[in-house]
Amino acid sequence: MTTDVKKPEQSLTAHKPGSGVVRFGVIGYGYWGPNIVRNLNQLEKADVLAVCDKSAPARQRVQKLYPQVELYSDPAELISSASIDAIAVVTPVWTHYELAKAALENGKHIFVEKPFTSTSKQAEELIDLAAKKNLKIMVDHTFLFTGAVRKIKDLLDENALGKLYYYDSTRVNLGLFQHDVNVIWDLAPHDLSIMDYLIQESPEAIVATGQTHLNGHEDVAFITLYFPDKIIAHMNVNWLSPVKVRTTLIGGEKKMLVWNDLEADEKVKIYDKGVSVTSREGVYNLLVNYRTGDMWAPQIEQVEALHRELAYFVNCIRNDETPMNDGKAGLRVVKMLEAASNSLCRRGAIVYL
Ligand SMILES: NC(=O)c1ccc[n+]([C@@H]2O[C@H](COP(=O)([O-])OP(=O)(O)OC[C@H]3O[C@@H](n4cnc5c(N)ncnc54)[C@H](O)[C@@H]3O)[C@@H](O)[C@H]2O)c1
Repeated sequence: MTTDVKKPEQSLTAHKPGSGVVRFGVIGYGYWGPNIVRNLNQLEKADVLAVCDKSAPARQRVQKLYPQVELYSDPAELISSASIDAIAVVTPVWTHYELAKAALENGKHIFVEKPFTSTSKQAEELIDLAAKKNLKIMVDHTFLFTGAVRKIKDLLDENALGKLYYYDSTRVNLGLFQHDVNVIWDLAPHDLSIMDYLIQESPEAIVATGQTHLNGHEDVAFITLYFPDKIIAHMNVNWLSPVKVRTTLIGGEKKMLVWNDLEADEKVKIYDKGVSVTSREGVYNLLVNYRTGDMWAPQIEQVEALHRELAYFVNCIRNDETPMNDGKAGLRVVKMLEAASNSLCRRGAIVYL
């Protein structure tokens, strides 16, 4: 321990499903870590007992806001603490595997930031380890818990769009440049996890192109995913855009949908627009009908996604349930990221999954 903060008086028994509060240790208090600590701290059935960050200024920030929390500079000390049930790993991706593995080996449930791991082999190993030890893995696919994605999922489940044609997302802005990963590993996990959740099918092949301009990592990239049954997905991720855009189009046979995450109200709009072909007897007789009906914007719940996600994780631990964004969901995203990297290195060669 690096400070003289007192240890909270807690029972040292491991958490049992159905019992009281889940006691968390959080590793990493940089940009995203404070959001995890704040939201866990607000949950009735969770308690943040300890935070670890190797940076002294980060630890000072924790101490100022949460003077009761134990502070560590060495993750091994936090991970071996008998009074902790679950660990949130909120550090750069290349550290996730080692920290998550040590946490599982010490009998802790893990909440791991996106992307889950740097390789699919690492993800598979963590999934096996958690299964052997009967521990939970949740990967922070935050957007699955937003009101917008939940609404879109409901619409797709009730087949409101009809047979899906395409999924097309744009996630661009100026920076934040990462030092350890390219723009695909930084931004695309969001879109890949959303797409994986909404479409519920596995892509067959990926093509990715991109370019490095500034720090040796690709800062602009385009990913195309081919699904069975002619569904196609496309993602545009870019750290060099003058404007911030967060828009996803989902086109179906019956209706089409636009999700603009930057809109305060009416984030999701459903257009009763479509195209139908009434004759297929040769190209010259083709009759294309365009349908332009109403647009409507459903009510979207306004809840902080991370709050809902962490509450769900705590419930999964307490009730011994498997989260939908478990290690397997994390692995599916890592496999797509690996395939995209593989294609990117070969200037857009097709990579089969
Ligand atoms: N879910 C989301 O929307 C979202 C948003 C931002 C970041 N993230 C993810 O969160 C993770 C962290 O990103 P960030 O932007 O907060 O990074 P960051 O660099 O701002 O913060 C990381 C912190 O971890 C500390 N750290 C690094 N290695 C450590 C170790 N071995 N032991 C103890 N402390 C260590 C660093 O000192 C730093 O304070 C990444 O995986 C990123 O992809 C997720």
